[in-house]
Amino acid sequence: MTKQPRNSFLCFINVPDTQSDGKRIHQKALEPQISFYTVVYYSLMAFSFSSLFSKEQKSVIGVDVGTSSIKVVQLRREHGRVILETYGAIALGPYAGLEIGRATSLPTEKIAEALKDVIREARVTTTDVAISIPYALSLISILKLPASVEKQLAQVVPLEARKYIPVPINEVLLDWFVLSGGGKEATPGSKLEVLLVAIHNDTIAKFKSIVSDAGLTLAFFEIEVFSAVRASLDRGIAPVAVVDMGAATTKFYVVERGLIRESHIINHGGQDLTLAASRALNISVSQAEERKRKFGLMPEGGPDLTQTLALSVTPLLSEVSRTIAAYEQRMNQSLSTMVVTGGSATLKGLKDFAQSKLQNEIRLADPFGKTQAPAFLEGVLKEAGPEFSVAVGLALRRLQEIA
Ligand SMILES: Nc1ncnc2c1ncn2[C@@H]1O[C@H](COP(=O)(O)OP(=O)(O)OP(=O)(O)O)[C@@H](O)[C@H]1O
Ligand SMILES: [Mg+2]
Repeated sequence: MTKQPRNSFLCFINVPDTQSDGKRIHQKALEPQISFYTVVYYSLMAFSFSSLFSKEQKSVIGVDVGTSSIKVVQLRREHGRVILETYGAIALGPYAGLEIGRATSLPTEKIAEALKDVIREARVTTTDVAISIPYALSLISILKLPASVEKQLAQVVPLEARKYIPVPINEVLLDWFVLSGGGKEATPGSKLEVLLVAIHNDTIAKFKSIVSDAGLTLAFFEIEVFSAVRASLDRGIAPVAVVDMGAATTKFYVVERGLIRESHIINHGGQDLTLAASRALNISVSQAEERKRKFGLMPEGGPDLTQTLALSVTPLLSEVSRTIAAYEQRMNQSLSTMVVTGGSATLKGLKDFAQSKLQNEIRLADPFGKTQAPAFLEGVLKEAGPEFSVAVGLALRRLQEIA
C-alpha cells in the first residue's frame, strides 16, 4: 500500500468568485456560435481566446476523461482573478466506432489520442495538467473510529480500510481526512468520522500514461467528486446535494461545510435518454442524440420526443428523490438545494421539469461563473457550463496550488 502526502487527492478548496468585466473582446471569441454548433453535433467543440492575455502568469489545465467525452479547461490567475483562457470537449464515441454521446470503455492509447486531439483543437498552450479519476473507479467511504486513535490514523486507517476494499490493500493508494470528532471536539468515548478514499494502483498507472502519452505533465489527480463539487458550489455550510448527470451514470453527492458526506452512483444517464428516443421515434442513435440536444424537453421537439425523454428521465429523478429522502431521514436534516451538473444537466427544460417533481430547490451548476471571460460569452458559458464542472474544478485547485 502506498500513500500520497496528506489529502493530496481529496482536498477541497474554495476559490473566490469573480465577475466578468466585459472588456476583453477578441476576434477569435466572436466565433463561438459557429464552432459551437459545428462541433457539438459532430465530434469536436473547441474555441480559444487565450491570445487575449499576456503570458506572464502560468496557465494550467483541468482534464476530465468521462465515458462519453473528454473535457479540457485552461485557466490562469491574473491579479487575483481567474481567467478562462480556453476550453473544449471531444466525443469519445467515434474513437470506439460508436455514436457521439455514447459511453465508451477505451484503451489508454485511444484516450491519449483523443486528449491530444482536443488539446490541439482547443489551442491549449500549457502542459501543466490536473486530471480526474472517475468516481466509478474509486472507493469513498466514511469510517467511524474511536476518537482515541486520532494520533495513530496512519496505522489504523489502512487496517480498517481492509473491511471496505475488495482487493489486497497493497494494490491501492489510500488517503483520508477527518470529517468530525477530532481535536477539540473529541471527548472520552466519542467517535471520529474519517473520510476514506482509495484508488487501485492500475487506475493510477492508466491515468498517468494517458497524461504522459499526450505529452503533458501531471501535477495531480483527484477523484471527480471533489472537482465537481469545488466548481459547482459556493461557500456554504448547509448540506446540499450535487447531482452529476453523465452519459452512462449519474453521480449523487451530499456536501456539508465543503466536505463530502455521502456519495452514490445511479446506473442511468444521458445515453439512456438517447437510446429511448431512438427506439420510440424509430430514428438512428445519432439522429436521436442530435434531436435530444437541440430540443430537449421543449415542446418544439414534438410530443413524441418530449414524452419519451420525460419518461426516460423520470425514473432517474425518482431515484434521486428517494436517495435525498433516505439521507434526510437518516440524518434528520433537510437538503434544501440540489445542484445539477454534468452534460445531461444541459438538457433543455430539465431544470423546470425536475423542479415539478422534487421539493428541493434545483439549480444548474455554473462553473464558468467562477472564471472571467468576455461578457458577451456569458450565455454560451452558462449553457455549456455544467458539462465542464469537473475540468474547471481541477484547474481551480491547480491554480490554488501554484499561487
Ligand atoms: N445539450 C445537451 N442536451 C442534452 N443532453 C446533452 C447535451 N449535451 C450533452 N448531453 C448529454 O450529456 C451526456 C454526456 O455528459 P458528460 O460529458 O457529463 O458525461 P461523461 O462525463 O462523458 O460521462 P460519465 O460522467 O458518465 O463518465 C451525453 O449523454 C450527452 O448526450
Ligand atoms: Mg462525467
